[in-house]
Formats: sequence, structure tokens, C-alpha cells
Amino acid sequence: MESLVITGGNPIQGKISVEGAKNSVLPILAASLLSKDKEGIWLDQIPRLQDVDVMIHILKDLGVQVKMQGRNLFLDTRSLEKDVVEDYHNNRMRSSIFLMGPLLGRMGKVTIGYPGGCRIGERPIDLHLKGLSKMGIKINMKGHRIEATGFPKGALIHLDAPSVGATENLMMAGVLAKGETVISNAAKEPEIVDLQNFIIKMGGRITGAGTDTIKIKGVDALSGGTYQVIPDRIVAGTYLLAAAATKGELLLENIIPRHLEALCAKLGEAGAELEKGDDYIWLRGKELKSLEIRTLPYPGFPTDLQPPMTSLLTQAQGASMVKENVFEGRFDYLEELNKMGANVTKIENRKAIIKGKTPLTGAKVNATDLRAGAALVIAGLVAKGHTTISNIFHLDRGYERIEEKFRNLNACIERRKDDNENAFQQSS
Ligand code: UD1
Repeated sequence: MESLVITGGNPIQGKISVEGAKNSVLPILAASLLSKDKEGIWLDQIPRLQDVDVMIHILKDLGVQVKMQGRNLFLDTRSLEKDVVEDYHNNRMRSSIFLMGPLLGRMGKVTIGYPGGCRIGERPIDLHLKGLSKMGIKINMKGHRIEATGFPKGALIHLDAPSVGATENLMMAGVLAKGETVISNAAKEPEIVDLQNFIIKMGGRITGAGTDTIKIKGVDALSGGTYQVIPDRIVAGTYLLAAAATKGELLLENIIPRHLEALCAKLGEAGAELEKGDDYIWLRGKELKSLEIRTLPYPGFPTDLQPPMTSLLTQAQGASMVKENVFEGRFDYLEELNKMGANVTKIENRKAIIKGKTPLTGAKVNATDLRAGAALVIAGLVAKGHTTISNIFHLDRGYERIEEKFRNLNACIERRKDDNENAFQQSS
């Protein structure tokens, strides 16, 4: 196990180019299974992350030939040897669930374990399974394993809630289905638009991603081709928050600023100075004012930036309120922030009150999940003295070489080998 050791106090300064989006790459890798074209698929801007490695591992296990060259990944998906996603993988990553749609489209059968995931609440998969049932798929629960059979057929599916993963899973199930699939109350996240663009590039027929109604007309086969994934808006947002919290100055390059509108609006309201161009955002940190934050599906404030935003609010003058509307269990890290001197209280209705501005001091803290880890990195950058963050395998799931990137931005941060081998080991 490894830890991050941060000596706080340095303002974040410099410029950084953001890696490809994890939440785009994972469904796009799954969707590659829908093609059996001899040309193969080339993906560009692949981030080097643990979740991506796990997904590649799963694809290899299913029989896909994979070649990685720098940030490019080549996939030859012509022959699949099995329709069983082994348990080991599911326990490590929730995203394995959206292998169901493409494997059903391709093979008419899939067996998969109930997925793992970040420990941020229940995270059920009922919407995935209900949608697939509407498409004519037979679902059998065998202990903790799901056995699904049938080739998907076009259907009208209304999602009870705009789940990102369910929208993606059902879109992929519709690509090779007979007839038309319409998903209403679909999620509108940019990663869903990216998945649509990838599928269209491969010859699929989808419209509507980015709105709440997505239509998929089934085709007989997909081609191969090349595709570049979008930059990671959550990673970009984390760097912006770190710069604002440390009163630094940051130029974020290679990003799509409109994907960060909800965050930028709040950073501006808090007092940060911002300038946006076609593919960059520049930020200069100033004295911060308190905020009210309510997480919502896109284009609302992203739940994945709620923990790092809370760290920033410990440095804002006055009382802030954060309400988590997407995942019920996303406040585990508050206790860790309080160990560092924050004054944060969880109250009823998934709300937290943050009283600022409080000086933070270095402490030994534990990354309880991926974005909680990002919150603790920001707190560590602000804090006086040394902060040691354990369980950073969570961070490695979603941030590429985070210590190197922050070091290039004037931070004092390093990765150390841990001797606590008994630390909590579950991942997602
Ligand atoms: C995706 C993102 C994650 C982000 C989340 C919300 C990926 C790989 N992960 O996760 O980073 O935090 O969107 O933006 O893209 N729900 C149900 N039943 C279901 C599915 C979901 O009740 O079948 C609920 C969840 O418990 C949660 C809400 O819907 O409360 C949103 O979940 P969802 O949008 O599905 O998130 P993920 O796709 O898991």
C-alpha cells in the first residue's frame, strides 16, 4: 500500500493539460465489443488509470487483442471467447456492469457478478436490469451473479431516474438490436454524448445524447475506426479547486470549458477570478466567500466535485451549505477533514454545513473513496505541516500520477510506500 505525503502552504501555480475522461473511456471500451470489424479500433487520449487497466484486463479476458502505444490503444475485437465476466473484476469496478449491454448485443448472453464500486451509498442497478428486461432480455439472479440471456430488441424505456450508467448500458444494448430503442429521462452527461459520438463513428445510428431523449436505430454491424475521448472534466475541476483553495494561479489547457460551467459559476461566486477561452480556463485565487452547493445530474453541479468543493469551502469566509442529491453516502470524508481542523457538520437531509474560514493543519487521514481522496489532497495542499493520505489506490482509479502533476504545479507532494499492509483493500 502507498500513501501521499503533502507539505501544505504552496499556492498552486502553472499550467496543465488534462487527460482523457475516465468516465468516457470506460463505456467506450465496453462499446468496442459491439464491433467485430477486421479494421479494429484505435482510441486516443487514454488515461493511465487503474479503472482503465481493469477494464482492459476484462476485455483481454473475454478474448480481445489489445495493444497500448503511449496514449493510444488498439483493440481487435473480432473473436470473443466467452460471455462470462469473472467475479474478480466486478468486485473491483462498478463500471463492469455496462459490459452487459454490449455483450448481449454481440453474444445474446452474459454472466456477470453484482458490481462493486466506490463506497458512496447503495448504488443499485435496478434501472439497468429493468431497461434490459424491456428489451426482451431474461434476467436470472443466481446468488450474487446475474445471468442475462437474449438478443436485445428495440423498446421504449423511461428511466425512473437519469442514471448515467443505465443510460449508457441501454444505449449500447440498442446499437445492434432489432428495431428502435427510445430512452426517455436519459442522463445528459458529456460522457454520454462522447459515447454516442464514438458509436456513430463506428456506423451506429444514435441521436439525442445530451438531451433527455435518446433514440437508437439498430444496425446489423459496426465498423472499426479511430476515436479520441474528451478531456476529463472532473480532473480539470479538481485542479481548478486546488488552485482556488490555495490562492494560486492556474491555466488549464486541453479542456472543454462548457463542461465545467456549474463549477466555474460557483468559483466566480466565491470570488475567484476566471477567464475562459475555447479550450482553456485561467483562474486566479482570491479571498473566498461562502457558498451554497446542491449536487445534481448534469448540467447541475457534479456530485464528483462535491468533496473537493467542500475542502475549498473550509477556506471561505462564513457558513457554507452543501447538499448531496445524487449519492446518499458521500460524506464519509467529513470526519477526515475535521481531523485537519475543519469545522464541518453533517446535518439531516444529506446536508453538510461548513464554517469557515478555519486554518487546517497536517494530519494522518484516510481516502475513503476516489473523490474523497481528491478532497483530502486539496485540504493537504492548504494545511500547515505534513498530511499523510492513506488508501490512495482510490485516487489512482481516477487521477493519473496525481503527485507528479501537482508537483509540476508548485506543490510539495510525494508518494511513499506504506507499511500498514492491513489497510482497507476494497476497490471499485
Ligand atoms: C456515474 C459516474 C460517477 C458519477 C455518477 C453521477 C461513471 C463510470 N461513473 O456513475 O463518477 O458520480 O455517474 O454523475 O461514469 N441509481 C439507481 N438505480 C440504478 C442506477 C443508479 O437507483 O440502476 C441511482 C444511484 O444509486 C444514484 C443515482 O441513481 O443515486 C445516480 O447514479 P448513476 O448516474 O447511475 O451513477 P453511475 O453511472 O454509477
